[in-house]
Amino acid sequence: MAAKEATAIDEHVPGSEYKNVLFSENFSKSMTDDIWTNTTFYTFTNFVLQGEKDYTLQGASVLDLGCGGGLFSRWAAAQGASKVVGIDLSEEQIAVACKMDEDNDGHHSSGIEYYTKDVIDIKTPEYGEFDVIIAVHLLCYADNPEKLQRMLQAVSVCLKKGGRCIGVRECLDSALKGPVSMKMKEEIKNGPMLAYQIIPQSDEIVDSKDCDDFCACINEFRSSDGSIIKFKNYAVSESTMIKMFNDAGFEVNACGPMLTCSPEGKKMFPPNFIDKVTNNYGKLLWYFDITKN
Ligand SMILES: C[S@@+](CC[C@H](N)C(=O)[O-])C[C@H]1O[C@@H](n2cnc3c(N)ncnc32)[C@H](O)[C@@H]1O
Repeated sequence: MAAKEATAIDEHVPGSEYKNVLFSENFSKSMTDDIWTNTTFYTFTNFVLQGEKDYTLQGASVLDLGCGGGLFSRWAAAQGASKVVGIDLSEEQIAVACKMDEDNDGHHSSGIEYYTKDVIDIKTPEYGEFDVIIAVHLLCYADNPEKLQRMLQAVSVCLKKGGRCIGVRECLDSALKGPVSMKMKEEIKNGPMLAYQIIPQSDEIVDSKDCDDFCACINEFRSSDGSIIKFKNYAVSESTMIKMFNDAGFEVNACGPMLTCSPEGKKMFPPNFIDKVTNNYGKLLWYFDITKN
């Protein structure tokens, strides 16, 4: 079943789609689709554990900002984190996360704490100070420099000195060199199990040179069950993002686009499809690993 669009594009409030129950359910379902598990989840979890050195989350306190249905919170807990807190703007997504946390008897035994809150409003370490912060597709919901700065301040106040924040967001330059949107539109008609489309500003096919920081992107994905999710977020250039990290007091350990596919995923999908996903869509996904100075 296709999700209705949560808001008209013109009156878009960043992240508001996730407050639509149908969207929220379809989004959480899509996160467990084989294609995501074997590409985005696989890439990100390896990136967290194998940065500059071999990292472990064993015994670490972990804060998952923009946790959605708690996919990465549960993963951090399974990695042996001593404390996991997930925060999201959407009550509906937090409800999904809490539900996923229930065992067969309806008990919450994982110890993960979930809270509904706008990250922009976190100004003190009210949830504690953490060793590690995960921020998967959160920063792309800042539609102007001030909001992005406030998100980074929230990351800073919640992180211990020397603590690491690892995340992924949409970035321009690496993503939109050439008419990538055109190729993505083809996928919608012909691609098995997944469709995606990135259209900065308008329905026209554009090149990255035409895009400004905080340009709006429409994303559309189809899961293997045919359900479609469509949402809007905001891209910036890599140089803007790196400068803002530095200005907010972070050192950048690693960054760049790097979508890969697991060995299992390579067996599951036609090679030309996986190549398109990692080479086209993958260019948009910009990973970062930063440390609080
Ligand atoms: C693409 S989803 C990612 C969810 C989760 N990190 C994952 O990868 O499964 C983006 C999430 O960010 C949340 N979000 C957007 N803006 C936010 C904000 N200002 N504060 C907290 N959460 C926000 C949305 O509600 C949504 O659940």
